[in-house]
Amino acid sequence: MKPVNVGLLGLGTVGGGTVNVLQRNAHEITRRAGRGIRVSCAAARDLNRPRHCNTEGIRLSVDPYSVVDDPEVQIVVELIGGVELARELILRAIANGRHVVTANKALIALHGNELFAAARERGVMVAFEAAVAGGIPIIKAVREGLAGNRIEWLAGIINGTCNYVLTAMRDEGREFDEVLADAQRLGYAEADPAFDVDGIDAAHKLTILASIAFGIPLQFERLHVEGIRHIARTDVVYAEELGYRIKHLGFARTTTQGIELRVHPTLIPYRRLIANVDGVMNAILVKGDAVGPTLYYGAGAGAEPTASAVVADLVDVVRALTSDPENRVPHLAFQPDALADTPILPMEAVETAYYLRLQALDRPGVLADVTRILGERGISIEAMVQKEPVEGQDDVPVILLTQRVREGQMNDAIQHIERLDSVTAPVTRIRVEGLGR
Ligand code: HSE
Repeated sequence: MKPVNVGLLGLGTVGGGTVNVLQRNAHEITRRAGRGIRVSCAAARDLNRPRHCNTEGIRLSVDPYSVVDDPEVQIVVELIGGVELARELILRAIANGRHVVTANKALIALHGNELFAAARERGVMVAFEAAVAGGIPIIKAVREGLAGNRIEWLAGIINGTCNYVLTAMRDEGREFDEVLADAQRLGYAEADPAFDVDGIDAAHKLTILASIAFGIPLQFERLHVEGIRHIARTDVVYAEELGYRIKHLGFARTTTQGIELRVHPTLIPYRRLIANVDGVMNAILVKGDAVGPTLYYGAGAGAEPTASAVVADLVDVVRALTSDPENRVPHLAFQPDALADTPILPMEAVETAYYLRLQALDRPGVLADVTRILGERGISIEAMVQKEPVEGQDDVPVILLTQRVREGQMNDAIQHIERLDSVTAPVTRIRVEGLGR
């Protein structure tokens, strides 16, 4: 049988990795897919740039439309990133009856509902395994491997840059800014590192995961998103003293009132496996009612790990080329007419435990004031540490761990604590999750 022709949009890091994996593993891939898969044409912005792959036999162009309009191409692989142009090209590929594979998390999170509707209409597939956690086959695992379960919650370290920064702050005793500069130099961070450290990249990925886990439409705008800029090295140290690690987590949970969708730094007990996922590595913990907790670990970025997911999608698409479009695995795991309109909880209604760090004057009655404010709002203290004052400084750090409470109550308590004359700086608040049940 003739090989399937793939048109590649983007020949950068992941594009080059995809060409290399397809060429190197051609024999294995053909044995799996039942047909060869070859890149017949590719578009790149600058054809003179040195490539990390062999482009012999690939028709190269600077015009991405020449790829999506090429009559020989059966599958378009979009690896250019960004939103507007990628959206336009994919919609055009779909209109041309081409199947699509993409690694574009922002595009799927923001426009996936529209793209999947267009793809269904035209009877083509849009596959996006590489959009979440790079090489970890988490979409496949949740959408197909856990299809017998009711997913209760999932928690993921899904941004390698944040994990690299937090790990280095702990292991090397350095502050946020210096470590971020390293992450940029090493090429882990997105072109605009704000996407990483302000939590947006993780929010794109969590949007997608939550959708396939709970059978809800993609709703990026409903997420609560926080990054890691406000985490100080001292928080990392105090968390360790209390038996916790700080990880930047994407967290989604179903409750009787609705679904929690949130991205923020989180204290998790250090004995959890996921608390020991360090450096740029990613991991996702998924709790299904039948299977219990399951953990998926691996490289969340990089040329060949991401290409691994792209090529797996290509194999899936090739296997399904002749199948009845109505009987393919649905894009968002649940049948499109069975997506639920479960409400997404506002952050004030979310219940969690908290780590609080206050900077307070070292004088009698200060702690009594703080505990009174918490007590009046029904907030119970689990642990408390006060450090000795450093010589020459008249305020001291006070660290509190609380039991679970609604975020709205905690917001009110923090406002009142910050109004105390004896409290000298804004309170640092980090949410705590046990991830045990
Ligand atoms: N910038 C992303 C990260 C890369 O740090 O995880 C892959 O999405």
